[in-house]
Amino acid sequence: MQPKQAADKMTESEIEAFRRDLLDWYDRHRRTLPWRAGPAQTADPYHVWLSEIMLQQTVVAAVIPFFLKFVDKWPTVHDLAAADQQDVMDAWAGLGYYSRARNLHKCAQVIAHEYNGVFPQVPAELKKLPGIGDYTSAAITAIAFDRPATVIDGNVDRVISRYFAITEPLPDSKPQIRQYAGMLSEARADRPGDFAQAMMDLGATICTPKSPKCILCPLSGSCKGHESGIHQTLPHKKAKPQKPTRYGYIYWITDRNGRVLCHRRPPEGLLGGMTGLPTSEWGEDIENIKHFLHSDQNAPVKTKAQVRHVFTHFNLMLDGYLIDIKENRVEFPEDYYWVSRKNMQNIEMPTVFKKFVRLML
Ligand code: ADE
Repeated sequence: MQPKQAADKMTESEIEAFRRDLLDWYDRHRRTLPWRAGPAQTADPYHVWLSEIMLQQTVVAAVIPFFLKFVDKWPTVHDLAAADQQDVMDAWAGLGYYSRARNLHKCAQVIAHEYNGVFPQVPAELKKLPGIGDYTSAAITAIAFDRPATVIDGNVDRVISRYFAITEPLPDSKPQIRQYAGMLSEARADRPGDFAQAMMDLGATICTPKSPKCILCPLSGSCKGHESGIHQTLPHKKAKPQKPTRYGYIYWITDRNGRVLCHRRPPEGLLGGMTGLPTSEWGEDIENIKHFLHSDQNAPVKTKAQVRHVFTHFNLMLDGYLIDIKENRVEFPEDYYWVSRKNMQNIEMPTVFKKFVRLML
C-alpha cells in the first residue's frame, strides 16, 4: 500500500484532538523523574536546566544518578557557580561529552553573577548562554516556565515522522518535522511544559525505535504511519559515513612505591580537563604511533589489556602497556601526578580510562 502522508496542514479540531489525547495519556502515564515537577507543582528552573544539559546526548536512566549527585552537592545555581571547576569536571566524569560540563559551570556563573540567579524565560535570551542551543532553550522555556515553545529531540523526530508518515530521510526531513511539531505546539498556551514532556515520554516508552507499542498508543487511531503499516520503518535515515578507527597505547606506569601515574588532560579538546592515564597520541596509522615514554630503563611492556571505546566521530582501540619506573629520576610535566594504587578506583575518570583501570586492578 502507498504510504498515506498527511496533508501539511491540520485542522484546528485535529490539532486539538491530538493534544487532548496525548495530554490525557500523559496524565495517566507520565514518568516520575527527579527533575520533573509533579502534577500541580511548579518546576525548578535550575533542575530543568541541569537535567536538560545532561540529557542532551545521554539517556534518562544514565542521567538520573548524575542529576541526584549534582543537586546534592550543589543545591542551587549559586552553589554550582561557586564550585571549583575541577570538582564539577570530576563529578561529570562518566557522563561523556565533557565540553558540556565546562559550559555548565560557565553558564551557572553567568546566571549567578549577571542574571542574579534567575534564568531567562525565552529561547532567544537562553540561547545567549553557554551550552544552550535550539533544543535546550525550547525545553527550558516550555518545561521550566510553561511557556509555548517547540521542543524537538530524537523522540519527537520519531513520533512526528511516524504520525505524519514522513518518508523523506533524516536529516533532510528536519524542516518538515519542525513544521508539524510547530503546528502542534507553537502559540498554544495550554500546558506547554506537559505537552513537550508528553511527546518525549511517548517516544521513549510507546513509540520506541524497535517494537513500538501501538496498541497502547493514544494517537494510533489517527497515526498515518500506523494506518499505512510503515511506522516501524520510520524515521528513515540517510546512511552515515563509516567511522574511522584510531589506535594508540595506554600506560599503567608505576613507581617503586607502587603508585600509578595519572594525567590531567589539557583543558580544551576531547576529554578536556578530565583526569586519565597517560596515553600516546591517537592516530589512524598504527605503524606511526610513538610510545609516550621510551628509554632503555623504562621500556614499555605489552599487556593483554586492550581498551575499545566508541566516540561520536571515531572508534578508539588502545593497547595497554606497563612501565615500571625503577629509579625515581624521571621528571614528568606538572599535569602528571602519582596516585596510590589503593586510590586508583576512587578517582573520577571518563569511561575510556575507567575500563583500563578496571582491567589493571
Ligand atoms: N529527554 C530529554 N528531556 C526530557 C524530559 N524533560 N522528559 C523526558 N525525556 C526527556
